Amino acid sequence: MRILVCGGAGFIGSHFARQRLRDHGDDVVVLDKLTYAGREENLQDLREDGRFAFVRGAIEDPEAVADAVGECDAIVNFAAETHVDRSISGPEEFLRTQMNGTYVLLEAARERGLRHLQVSTDEVYGSIPEGSFTETSPLDPSSPYSATKTGADLLVSSYHHTFGLETVICRGSNSYGPYQYPEKLIPLMILNALHGDPLPVYGDGMNVRNWIHVEDFARAIGHVLERGSPGQAYNAGGPDECPNIDVVHRILDLCGRDESLIEYVPDRLGHDRRYSLSSEKVRTLGWEPLMRFASGLEQTIEWYRENAWWWEPVRSGEYRAYYERQYGRALKS
Ligand code: NAD
Ligand code: TYD
Repeated sequence: MRILVCGGAGFIGSHFARQRLRDHGDDVVVLDKLTYAGREENLQDLREDGRFAFVRGAIEDPEAVADAVGECDAIVNFAAETHVDRSISGPEEFLRTQMNGTYVLLEAARERGLRHLQVSTDEVYGSIPEGSFTETSPLDPSSPYSATKTGADLLVSSYHHTFGLETVICRGSNSYGPYQYPEKLIPLMILNALHGDPLPVYGDGMNVRNWIHVEDFARAIGHVLERGSPGQAYNAGGPDECPNIDVVHRILDLCGRDESLIEYVPDRLGHDRRYSLSSEKVRTLGWEPLMRFASGLEQTIEWYRENAWWWEPVRSGEYRAYYERQYGRALKS
């Protein structure tokens, strides 16, 4: 199969591109705008592979999409603005990428009769105090990020319903692992712990997330791409859930630091309390998560320890400015 991987220079898309090239023998074309979150470094080990190509461009640009889609058999759309806090301080880019961008990709798929897989999130269902969301749960997003992801999902479903386009949606829970930009909880806390910077915990730290290792989520997306029924959505949740404050304590322990680095900061506006996905449906396609959170977190910390080449350039420039705006203090180191 030849796959157009949109947003493949980001965190999850780069793992998916690597899996499809290495484990499945697919050809992969990555189309990515290279926003602050997209980095060619995430794909640097793939560049010499003759079955891999990279095109810099935006999914909302029909010409860039037409150039990249070439002889592809399927489109997998990871491209998105992905950070909830940034969607609160500036939602516009979220609308452009999630809504206009997904629309342009759907039109390209319709014109050529391609399969379209939309990568989505548990956040479209909103918060759940207990139990887990299934694919038939109502969509009830809370933030501009999750609302625009929901809008994109609904547009994708409408192209199946109205035009008969072969669409599938795969909704993942909170992902973690190598190459994740350190604005998200786990890499941010790891790098701050390693540097002796404060660890900013929102609210009471008791918000709960359902953690999935990035390799598990990428494999689930592959299963849905190959075996999912057109018009269907599939949830891929991780095997473990954990309150944020426990995640922070584990990271401090594994980095050899103590609690004095924890700093409680004002809560995020509209902060969802708990996410949880039931993955029964995707399991019927033969998928199961392989990595438990305890060992996945340990391995992730090891990766950040050993790959300073990857994060050193990130912890400067735009990131420092973002950090100062977001947390009202400069990074010490
Ligand atoms: P990321 O922010 O690391 O990467 C996003 C990538 O998309 C970047 O490479 C960026 O340059 C690119 N991009 C952004 N706007 C673009 C545009 N207009 N045109 C082309 N490329 C553009 O994100 P991620 O964490 O890898 O998430 C990937 C997808 O998975 C997203 O759709 C996200 O909603 C979804 N998701 C993420 C998580 C998570 O925990 N990270 C969980 C579930 C679902
Ligand atoms: P995040 O990684 O932004 O993912 P999401 O909001 O999409 O779930 O945040 C995960 C959890 O960690 C969420 O409850 C917010 C919390 N959090 C903090 O407490 N401090 C931080 O500095 C960040 C970035 C997140």
